[in-house]
Amino acid sequence: MCGIVGYVGNKSALDILLEGLTNLEYRGYDSAGIAVNVDGHVELYKAEGKLQNLKDITFEKKEHISKSTIGIGHIRWATHGAPTTINAHPHSCNCGRVAVVHNGIIENYKELRAKLEKEGCVFRSQTDTETVAHLVAKKFAQTHDLTEAVRLATKEIEGAYALCVIHQDIKNTIVATRRNAPLLVGIGEGEYYVASDVPAIIKYTKKAMYLEDNQIVTLTPDSMKLIDIDNNVISQKIEILPWEPVALSKMGYKHFMLKEIHEQPDVVRNVLAGKLRAIDENISLNEVTLDKESLKTLNRIQIVACGTSLHAAMVGKYIMEELCGIAVDVEPSSEYIYRKTVGDKNTLVIGVSQSGETADTITAVRQAKSRGSHILIVTNRPDSTMAREADSLIPVSAGIEVSVAATKSYTAQVISFYLLAIYIAEIKNSANKENLSNLKRELILLPQKIEKVLSHKEDVQACARRFANSKDFIFIARGINYATALEGALKLKEISYINATGYTAGELKHGPIAMLDESMPVLSILMKGQVYEKILSNSEEAKARNARMIALTDSDDTKINDLFECIIKVPEIIETLSPVLAIVPLQLLAYYIAEFLGKDVDQPRNLAKSVTVE
Ligand code: G6P
Repeated sequence: MCGIVGYVGNKSALDILLEGLTNLEYRGYDSAGIAVNVDGHVELYKAEGKLQNLKDITFEKKEHISKSTIGIGHIRWATHGAPTTINAHPHSCNCGRVAVVHNGIIENYKELRAKLEKEGCVFRSQTDTETVAHLVAKKFAQTHDLTEAVRLATKEIEGAYALCVIHQDIKNTIVATRRNAPLLVGIGEGEYYVASDVPAIIKYTKKAMYLEDNQIVTLTPDSMKLIDIDNNVISQKIEILPWEPVALSKMGYKHFMLKEIHEQPDVVRNVLAGKLRAIDENISLNEVTLDKESLKTLNRIQIVACGTSLHAAMVGKYIMEELCGIAVDVEPSSEYIYRKTVGDKNTLVIGVSQSGETADTITAVRQAKSRGSHILIVTNRPDSTMAREADSLIPVSAGIEVSVAATKSYTAQVISFYLLAIYIAEIKNSANKENLSNLKRELILLPQKIEKVLSHKEDVQACARRFANSKDFIFIARGINYATALEGALKLKEISYINATGYTAGELKHGPIAMLDESMPVLSILMKGQVYEKILSNSEEAKARNARMIALTDSDDTKINDLFECIIKVPEIIETLSPVLAIVPLQLLAYYIAEFLGKDVDQPRNLAKSVTVE
């Protein structure tokens, strides 16, 4: 959360900064700002609200601001201090010569602020970040060296940060550093970029260097110097980014979310490619480095994740318990890290994260690692902080996901769990071979089935139109699709702000049924299999309380026509694999409802795609 961008070179910085911030908007969008150096003076431009407000302000002075060939920018997701212009970054010191942008939380900011105030600093904002600006200014006054000033300042800072700093007296220089927050440098010809994430710079360069914790980089148009916090020079690991700029285009779709929903058939093909080669061949998963004997003797698996990734993990638990016969626990990372969890080297700990930067999940896997557990990371970002903690790394290959509401990354994570479960089951010989072959056959057919669901999206759209004005929504399911119910409800909450909840259908009668009346839609995930009849009965119970019933089903049973006001059909599929197919119409339902309501689909209020604070 919060996005940082910086540029130093020979071009005008303004457009590069604004474009970079546009591509980082998924990280936050409640205020934005830039700092540039025009005619030897550091100038700040900041605006509350969407990035467009900053664009409007800078447009009025475009000719003037465009003179600067250096700049830093920030898009904010507020943690300390309301999302106002004053609290927007960059922040400055009292003399106005320093400008700082920050992603993270300075945990000891209160003590630092009290100390700095005693020393005469006057604070303007309520942010933790402003302490860094004053601190750097103080250190610069002592050293007259910006790198040294930043280095000394970071020695006093506790917490998580990615920082970019410029100083009026040190021309054409950006100093950047990080600790527990992502930051990379893009390398151009006679120019350098800094950013929280690849989308901000990929249009300009694919050559990059990821900063490690406590490293400090000093950039001028023609030099890059890297040191650690103890002033040792560090060798630079330069790499070529495996991303294409086209990933950031909507490709004719109205929203990134709709584009990403439609990418799912190809995402499934990509995840399966090279791993599931033929039905009669074992799954190949070289990414799992835990040796086969240890896999056989594993006594426990713990999965930690947040949000949508947590729901993917719940499907993972179900399938791994079914196929591998190992006890699997799934827990939100934010809960896992604040209690005594039991685990050792016979416990496999799986961290699941689209971004690989979610602070709670990073902390959870680090805790598990310190207990000696093997750490397996399932992430869409093999270049992320979490990926670097991995003993085994399964990249889910969904491609850059821009929409804040995760769709294709969820599907990719779920498919990765199927592969992992089959892989372990084949090693342990713990599942019926015919069932495994059947599952593989269905996995291969899955992309076509998703395509079929997408080709009937108008049916979902019609249902969305009918229910768009509902205040509440209930999703019910049982078994492996309970996670689908939770994820369907989460999608709807996230982008339409409708109060939606997923329940196991059997629990409905133990409380939630009290809420049912003619204003309450209940969506039953009614996929064929062992719990089909049970969910049907639970749906009857809801109907008897006048709830407005919707079915999502692969059944052709015409008996259900009278029970449901709206029936969303998907192709027939084996129950074990049904979550992957069932989630697609629910993503579409959430999308169309939000669109009918005129919501900001790709950037829902209060959310950020990458939550880098605990
Ligand atoms: C945020 C996002 C969610 C996401 C969750 C976990 O809350 O808004 O869409 O599911 O973080 O993110 P991760 O990157 O760890 O999957």
